[in-house]
Amino acid sequence: MKTKILENTKADIDKAAGILRKGGLVAFPTETVYGLGANAFDEDAVGRVYEAKGRPSDNPMIVHISRASDIGQLTRMLSPDIVTLIENFWPGPLTLVVKKRPEVPYRTTGGLDTVAVRMPDNETALNLISTALCPVAAPSANLSGSPSPTRAQDVIDDLDGRVDAIIRGEDCRVGIESTVVDMTGDVPTILRPGIITADNLEAALGKKVVYDKGLSPEEGAPGEDYKPKSPGMKYKHYAPKAEMIVVEGERSKVKSEIERLKTLNEKLGNNVGVILFEEKAFIEAAHDFFARLRDLDREGVDLILAGALSDTDGVGFAVMNRMLKSAGYNIVRV
Ligand code: TXA
Ligand code: MG
Repeated sequence: MKTKILENTKADIDKAAGILRKGGLVAFPTETVYGLGANAFDEDAVGRVYEAKGRPSDNPMIVHISRASDIGQLTRMLSPDIVTLIENFWPGPLTLVVKKRPEVPYRTTGGLDTVAVRMPDNETALNLISTALCPVAAPSANLSGSPSPTRAQDVIDDLDGRVDAIIRGEDCRVGIESTVVDMTGDVPTILRPGIITADNLEAALGKKVVYDKGLSPEEGAPGEDYKPKSPGMKYKHYAPKAEMIVVEGERSKVKSEIERLKTLNEKLGNNVGVILFEEKAFIEAAHDFFARLRDLDREGVDLILAGALSDTDGVGFAVMNRMLKSAGYNIVRV
C-alpha cells in the first residue's frame, strides 16, 4: 500500500478526514503520542487498524472525539463524577472507560461492554476528528510491541506502507500516553498511569481514586494468575530492539552502577546507550523517554542502561510504568 504523507494544513486535513470517512486509516498527532485512526463505528476499518499494527484483536481502542458532548454517541452513562472529570481535564490526556452504547462495535472495544473515550488537546487532531464527522478509534501509531511514537518520523518508520496516510505534525508535547481511568465501578480506578495523576483526579473529584492491582512497580511483572482489566497490560510493550536493564536505587549508586555496567559491556564489545534523567525532572522524562528509546535503536546500540526515577505516585510513576515494561522487568537493584 502506498502511504500518503500529508502536511498539517487545512487542505491536507480535509483529505485525511475524507480517507477516514471512506474507511481508511490515518495516523495523526495528539498531545500525548501519535494515534492511528479509523472511524470507530466502521468495524472493517477498525479491523484494519489491528492488522496494520499487528495488534491482538482483544486489545481495545481508545475512541477520540472533538467535542465533549459527543461522548453521548458512545455511552449513556454520565455520572456526576464523569462530568466532573470531563469539565476538569478535557481536552487533555485523560481517557475515561465507560459503559458502551449498543451501537459501538465490539471490534472497537475488543469484545468489552465498555468503551474508552478521550478528547485530545491538539488542534490537528481536533480538526481531523470534527471534519471526519465521526468518533475516531485510535491506538498509538506504532507497530504493536514497539516504543510509542512521539514524532512524525517514528510513525513513518513503523507504518509507512501499512496505512493510507500519515499527517506529519509536530512532536508530541506530553510524550507518554493518556491516563486511563475506569469509571464503571464504585471507585474510579486507574488502569494506566499518565501525566494526570491520582492526586489530580482526587483533587477534582474530592474522593479516593485507586490503582488497578498489577500497576505497582514493587510487585514486578504481573503474575500468571493476574487477569488485567485493561487488556493492553498483558502484552509485551514498548520494547526497543536493544536489550535493556533498569538500574534502581539511591541516585548516586544508580549512577555508579550504570557507569560500571557500561564499562564492562563496552569491554566486551557491546555498544551501550544510557538513559538517565535529571533527578525529579519527571515531565521532561515523560516527554523524552520513548524518543530516547527510538533514537538509541537508530544508533544501533546493543544494550540500554536506564536509571529508575524515584517517584511512587506521580508523573515519575507513569514513566516508570513504561520503563519497566520496555525492559521486560529486567531490573538491577543497588
Ligand atoms: O494517549 C493515548 O491514549 C494514545 C493517543 C493516540 O490518544 N492512545 C493510546 O492507545 O495509547 P492504545 O491503544 O495504545 O492504548 C489504549 C489502552 C490499552 O491499554 C487498552 O487496553 C486500554 O487503553 N483500553 C481501551 N479500551 C478499554 C476498555 N474498554 N477497558 C479497559 N481498558 C481499555
Ligand atoms: Mg499503545
